[in-house]
This record gives sequence, structure tokens and C-alpha cells, in this order.
Amino acid sequence: MSEPQAGIFAEGSTSHFFLEFTVIDGIGAGQLSETLAKAIALSNVGVNRVWAFGADCWRMIAPAGSPAELKPFAAIGEGKRVAPATQRGILLWLHGDNHSANFDAAMAATGVLAPVAMLQLEKIGFLYKDSRDLTGFIDGTENPKGRGQQTVALIPEGEPHAGGSYVLSQQWVHHLSSFHALSQAEQEAVIGRTKPDSIELEDDVMPENSHVSRSDVKINGVSQKLYRRSVPYGGVLEHGLYFLAFSCDIRRFDNILQSMFGVSGDGIHDHLTDFSTPVSGNYWFAPSAAELSLIGSL
Ligand code: HEM
Repeated sequence: MSEPQAGIFAEGSTSHFFLEFTVIDGIGAGQLSETLAKAIALSNVGVNRVWAFGADCWRMIAPAGSPAELKPFAAIGEGKRVAPATQRGILLWLHGDNHSANFDAAMAATGVLAPVAMLQLEKIGFLYKDSRDLTGFIDGTENPKGRGQQTVALIPEGEPHAGGSYVLSQQWVHHLSSFHALSQAEQEAVIGRTKPDSIELEDDVMPENSHVSRSDVKINGVSQKLYRRSVPYGGVLEHGLYFLAFSCDIRRFDNILQSMFGVSGDGIHDHLTDFSTPVSGNYWFAPSAAELSLIGSL
């Protein structure tokens, strides 16, 4: 059994740090790997940590080669409605219930990485009410449960890089005043679920442009399920969702985003994209715990 990084599946954290780093130009593979190994070895009690890498960075440090599908994120959409690409090298997700410990861990890792990588994006996430997005809707209802989480999220046993996972991250900036100007029934039509208790709308009233309609995608009979770990971030001036999801198949992300951004063939876009805008987009590979521990050792 190839153990995944345990932090992927640790749920319920109240405090989250999402750190995206760019590898400094001209840094050699040896120096990058050695420095990363030091940062990965840092331990902070009570902090879950997940390390993931963009395609180019992984190619520099990978002791056992790259997973077949790994690629940089490319923009999806047309005209003004686009999910932009901001591909970076390293993602570190720290989470737990101890905000102070997460802060210390974030500072320590960023300090160790400083000679080889620059922090480019930092989002501080938090549990909002009973696992709600800042729109007020429960996020995660349709997430897989139990063993189904690993089936959906991980490259299966027997395949190269088993226990690893493909990851999509996107910073979405919400326009809450326009969303909250809608009546509750209109908001529910945007999402495709009821607001208080997250019941899916019946087929006869489910709009074809609701978020549920656009994200519940089937390709050749296969449901494009993801294991979503998104968290609200921000404060009064800027706020939204740090979308984070894990998958056994990187194409699932492309398929859902094409459906949400109106380029999957029927020309319909997700109504949610009228109330929130993605400003970053990255694909990552989160190696298994064993593969992570090999970084810098060869
Ligand atoms: C502003 C950004 C987003 C917000 C606020 C948001 C919120 C939600 C909410 C409230 C639900 C319904 C409850 C649930 O099942 O979790 C949902 C479902 C879902 N979302 Fe999102 N989401 C966002 C972006 C995305 C993106 C970018 C993707 C994929 C690339 C995605 C994939 C899904 C999937 C697969 C479901 C389950 C659909 C189903 O099978 O019923 N979401 N999301």
C-alpha cells in the first residue's frame, strides 16, 4: 500500500495556510532538492502539511520520474469569462486547529525555502460556520466519504506513482454584494442546492446553468468525481474561496472547468462565475509520502 500524504485527508481544520512558491530562475536541481528536503523535514506539532509540485519543478526534483498526465495549468474559457493560468512551482498547504502553530510552520518553511523559491501567493483560510462557503452555502456535501475519498483522489495501486494525487488550486474572488442582492430562491438556483440544508434541487426546477448542473459531469459514463478541500479565505476588503481539489485523473479538472466556463460544447456557463472570479490557476502533483521522502536523497 502506497501511503498518501496524510494531510490530504485530515478534515475539520479551523485554520489553513495556502502558500504558492515560484522557483528562482537559474537554481540547479541539486540545490532545489536539498533545500526542499530540509523544508519537508521541518516538524511542527499539530500541523497537517501537504506538499505538491508543478510539472516543471517536479521534473527537476523527481527521483522516480513524472506521472504521465502531469502538465502545467493552461487557461480555460473565452472572452471575459476565463479561468487564468498562473502556474507556480511549489504548493504548501498547512492546516489544523492551532493557528499559531500553522503560522510558525509557514514562516519556518518560507525561511528555509528562501534561497531557492519565492513566496508568490499566500491565502489564509478558515472554517466558516458549519463548513460553508462565504456565499452561505455548505461546500462539500457531494464529496466522497470513507474509502471512496482515496479511490477518487489517488493514483491507484499498481500504477506508477501510486498514492500520489493530481491537484487543482484556484483563488476565487467573490462579489458577495451582488450575490447577496439575490433572493434566497435565486441564490439556490445559482448553486443548485437549498441554502439552509444543502438539499439538491429537483430535476424539474434545477437550472441547466446552476453550479451543480455544470460541475456534475459524466464523460463516457464515468462521473468526474473530485475530492474537494476548498476553504474560504480573506477579510472584508477581499474574500472568496481557495478552491483545492484532489483527483486520480488530471483530465477531470479540465472537463469540469470546460463545462463551468462554457467551452464544453453546449455554450452554457456556470451562473456562479457571474458572482465569483478565479484569479489564479495551478496544477500540482502531490506525491505519496514515500516518494516525498525521497526528495533530495538521490
Ligand atoms: C467560487 C468557486 C466555487 C464555489 C463557491 C463552489 C461551491 C460549491 C457548492 C456550494 C457546492 C454544492 C455542495 C457540494 O456538493 O459540495 C459545490 C459542488 C461541487 N463543486 Fe463547486 N464551488 C466552486 C468552484 C468549483 C470548481 C472550480 C470546481 C471544479 C473544478 C467545482 C466542483 C464541484 C463539484 C464536482 C461539486 C459536486 C457536484 C455534484 O456532483 O453534485 N466547484 N460547489
